[in-house]
Amino acid sequence: MKTAFITDIHGNLSALETVLADIDRYSPDHIVCLGDFVGYGPQPRERLEIVRTRCTHVLMGNHEHAVLNGAEHFTPLARIAIDWTAQQLRDPGILQYLSSLRPAKLEGNCLYVHGSVRDPLFDYVREADSPWMFYRLVQTLREDFKEFKLCFCGHNHRAFLGTELGYIFPHDDQPTPQMKFQLEGQTAYVSIGSVGQPRDGDPRSSWVLFDGKSVEYHRVEYDRQITIDLIHKAGLPEFLADRLLYGE
Ligand SMILES: [Fe+2]
Repeated sequence: MKTAFITDIHGNLSALETVLADIDRYSPDHIVCLGDFVGYGPQPRERLEIVRTRCTHVLMGNHEHAVLNGAEHFTPLARIAIDWTAQQLRDPGILQYLSSLRPAKLEGNCLYVHGSVRDPLFDYVREADSPWMFYRLVQTLREDFKEFKLCFCGHNHRAFLGTELGYIFPHDDQPTPQMKFQLEGQTAYVSIGSVGQPRDGDPRSSWVLFDGKSVEYHRVEYDRQITIDLIHKAGLPEFLADRLLYGE
């Protein structure tokens, strides 16, 4: 069985449509969305409908949570975008759908979360920048990964694997591209990266294909100018358009 993972679409319909077209080339059995399909971007309603129709499982992200409960803990720019998004989604049917979502789902030996194993809604899985952080990752993989072997996560907008052997960053640079990784028998965090607002220095959309044994990362170019123009038209903060150009 093949499962495609998408996450953190964040109002970017152009990116979502391009990614779904790429996913369809591989004919997966399921598509799973790990949350944050609203927030930041200019087309929340359109994206919501597509995600709802195309995905077998849809998780709640912290941005869906903020639409329902307020964005007090967000940065000022993110709060402006959430307030705008909440206005666009003011519809009882939509709010009921958002309320029905959960931030985690266990399926076989895989856990799907928006954030992390420790806090599926708000916590970030981060790449280690110190031996202590790597120690904490190994500790988590050994102690918290009991009912499952792999945890697929979003929220950080960065594509990487966190394993007991270290952090692995997929890349398609020549001459040694490395996008597919065998994970059978291992415990690992599979951080998907973002469809609509990548922040790992690569502005292309990110998604992951899982066949039960290995994960394959995909990066896809989309028409960023369409989304940038719509962000301007909606009067959303300029920063949200600029960051799409650089993947930061
Ligand atoms: Fe996000």
